Amino acid sequence: MGFTTKQVHAGVSPDPVTGSILTPVYQTTTFVQDSVDEYLSKGFSYSRSGNPTVRALENKLAILEGGADCTCYATGMAAIQAVLQACLNAGDHAIVSDVAYGGTYRLCTKVFQRFGVEFTFADTSKPDEVRAALRPNTRLVLTETPANPTLKLTDIEAISAITRERGIPHAVDNTFLTPYYQRPLELGANISIHSTTKYFDGHNATVGGAVIVDSNELDSQIRFVQNAGGVIMSPWVAWLTMQGTKTLSIRIERQSANAQAIAEFLESHPKVAQVRYPGLESFPQHELARRQASGFGAMMWFEVKGGVAAGKKLMDSVELCTLAENLGSVETLITHPVTMTHADVDEAERKRVGIIDGLVRLSVGLEDAEDLIDDLRRALDRI
Ligand SMILES: Cc1ncc(COP(=O)(O)O)c(C=O)c1O
Repeated sequence: MGFTTKQVHAGVSPDPVTGSILTPVYQTTTFVQDSVDEYLSKGFSYSRSGNPTVRALENKLAILEGGADCTCYATGMAAIQAVLQACLNAGDHAIVSDVAYGGTYRLCTKVFQRFGVEFTFADTSKPDEVRAALRPNTRLVLTETPANPTLKLTDIEAISAITRERGIPHAVDNTFLTPYYQRPLELGANISIHSTTKYFDGHNATVGGAVIVDSNELDSQIRFVQNAGGVIMSPWVAWLTMQGTKTLSIRIERQSANAQAIAEFLESHPKVAQVRYPGLESFPQHELARRQASGFGAMMWFEVKGGVAAGKKLMDSVELCTLAENLGSVETLITHPVTMTHADVDEAERKRVGIIDGLVRLSVGLEDAEDLIDDLRRALDRI
């Protein structure tokens, strides 16, 4: 079956008791057992260890990513934390994309380093740099592609070939493209991570995360850590995320078409210094974007001539685009990463990886493209 059929039907069936077409919200802590000998015969005991509503979402996401299983979390950061906790011990080393969501950088440098884990932030768009960063104690490679906010791409197949040679997992943060456009496990990676806050929910309603893995063994390791630490997704969030997921492909297709139109408009505008969108032929890794994904997504960035002051003026002048941090929702959101999403990344590190001060990030929504372009045109006129 095609992706869109699966996103509607996979992992769910009508409630056997009532016929409810939607999986109910099992808002309960505990599950009554039939007898001591039949403990867990219905699969559930206590909601920290597993909940039927959350499980239905996990089953759906595992199928959409082509994985063996999935665990869902309170946030995308909790999902990344679970992967790090499951794969790394004190004294181990991990290689992480040098451009990634600022929260990932913060988690590695300000939390896991305190527990004796070593990190190398490498340019994972260059497989040789990843190979060179490998140490005898390297136990994980974590990449984010496209990366937030520069959109730098990592060749998933090339990095997975290196990690497979070494017998260590390659985890990919697949938040920006979703399995509709990019399926890391099919390209050789072992773990696909999502902030479901973004495209799966799609409506700015919830925060959540997911980890999809290629083996039951890896799933057990991660599920153990999750149950031990308790960073679970709530049944309500799972239920809402489930409803969002059913329209994922339709939304991201339309949002990506809008993004392509906006990127072309911005690229031809005299007040715009540069535009980065994987769907533009001018995008430095346009060929890789075509090869490893079936669509270009709805994230882009641009720089206005006149630097930071002009960029700020634009962000304060838009009326339809909304100044806010999230991404992937039906509303078009405009963000200044240096002061917002990536404020915790050291200035020198930001500069080194290309998060320039004038970078304006756009998460393109579901509005009519003409209205968004008119809004941006008017804002540019005011500069
Ligand atoms: C690529 C990426 N990964 C992970 C996260 C963290 O997700 P959450 O905010 O749901 O914790 C974000 C948040 O913006 C993100 O953009």
